[in-house]
Amino acid sequence: MRHARAYGIAVLAALAVAGAVAFAQSTTVPLPEEVPIEAAPLEESAVADLADAEWGDPERGATLASTCAACHGLDGNSTVRDIYPSIAGQSERYIARQLALFKSGERANAIMQPFAAPLSAQDMRDLGAHFAQQQAGAGIADDTVVESGPYADMKFFEVGQQLFRGGDSERDIPACLACHGPTGAGNPGPAYPHVGGQPAWYTARRLQEYRDGTTNERDSGMFEIMHTVAEGLTDEEIQALASYLEGLHPRLDAAMRAAMAQVDPDKVPLPAAPADAGDGAPDATAPEPEAASDEEGVTETEATPETEQPTRQ
Ligand code: HEC
Ligand code: HEC
Repeated sequence: MRHARAYGIAVLAALAVAGAVAFAQSTTVPLPEEVPIEAAPLEESAVADLADAEWGDPERGATLASTCAACHGLDGNSTVRDIYPSIAGQSERYIARQLALFKSGERANAIMQPFAAPLSAQDMRDLGAHFAQQQAGAGIADDTVVESGPYADMKFFEVGQQLFRGGDSERDIPACLACHGPTGAGNPGPAYPHVGGQPAWYTARRLQEYRDGTTNERDSGMFEIMHTVAEGLTDEEIQALASYLEGLHPRLDAAMRAAMAQVDPDKVPLPAAPADAGDGAPDATAPEPEAASDEEGVTETEATPETEQPTRQ
């Protein structure tokens, strides 16, 4: 595996232009009208207590986070990627909600349940606020060439990339970026989760769960959104999406920031920030969600096999 990533200003400029073009040309499939775009319902079911708790305090969350470190890493980036997903850069609301679901058993997981069980609603939101502030990393996508079938001759991750960016209008599969954003950073308002950089096995498993459509959630509105999205995906597409997302970088690391500072915006027009996918506002007591996604949208993520998507051995 190669990890070398050389960011030059020339590369950046080229990517920014390529990104703008790709973004402008992508034929994003409109979301089906019956899909509800709404804020994660905190008022009902097992997550009810979350609505009464205050917006998470990241400093208090940090004091609780050491219990999570063995599996999710101290900064929320899993250190054992084959077994545990990352939670860095995930939104306060999404994390708190999943913890409540684990605690109640509505999201069934034998490993997480005992860690969620002792947490109060406030603990959950504080932990969420802490991990929302952490910078998410990423892995490496698979660029082996597909030999046969509908995607023959495409690189494996490109199959996922195509669906992520453009969906498939003929099969009513919406573009994932409409809700999860071009870098997979999610949207903290309606709590569309961060999906970039997750280990592929985890993403694939989640997509299979959504496709199968079986859930214990009493208020399954959020789950249903993804069920509608995933029900038409083939196994191959699920694996390819998972691989693409594993390699999807948040991009604005220190080297990138330094390079960005050098770019003359008059000469290199950066793509516009993606429009908010939903109109779901955070609840009244919540301050504007911070950090979680304000780093996206400045530059489009281009999967460039030479620099970003080295071959998996
Ligand atoms: C012993 C290992 C372990 C520990 C410790 C642990 N987790 Fe987890 N966590 C997991 C596993 C495994 C999953 C994936 C569950 C699944 O497959 O659905 C998970 C999933 C999650 C998710 C859902 C992620 C998503 O994207 O939906 C959140 C949120 C989470 N953990 C938060 C925490 C927090 C906060 C703590 C500390 C209080 C913690 N975990 C401690 C193993 C652990
Ligand atoms: C209409 C908005 C919308 C679209 C379009 C969408 N998603 Fe989602 N996605 C969601 C929501 C909402 C959730 C959270 C569901 C839940 O609470 O279980 C989610 C959850 C996920 C998760 C689980 C994340 C985690 O941490 O466990 C993955 C993976 C995912 N989506 C991938 C995709 C992919 C791939 C596509 C495109 C094929 C896509 N999504 C399109 C709204 C959307």
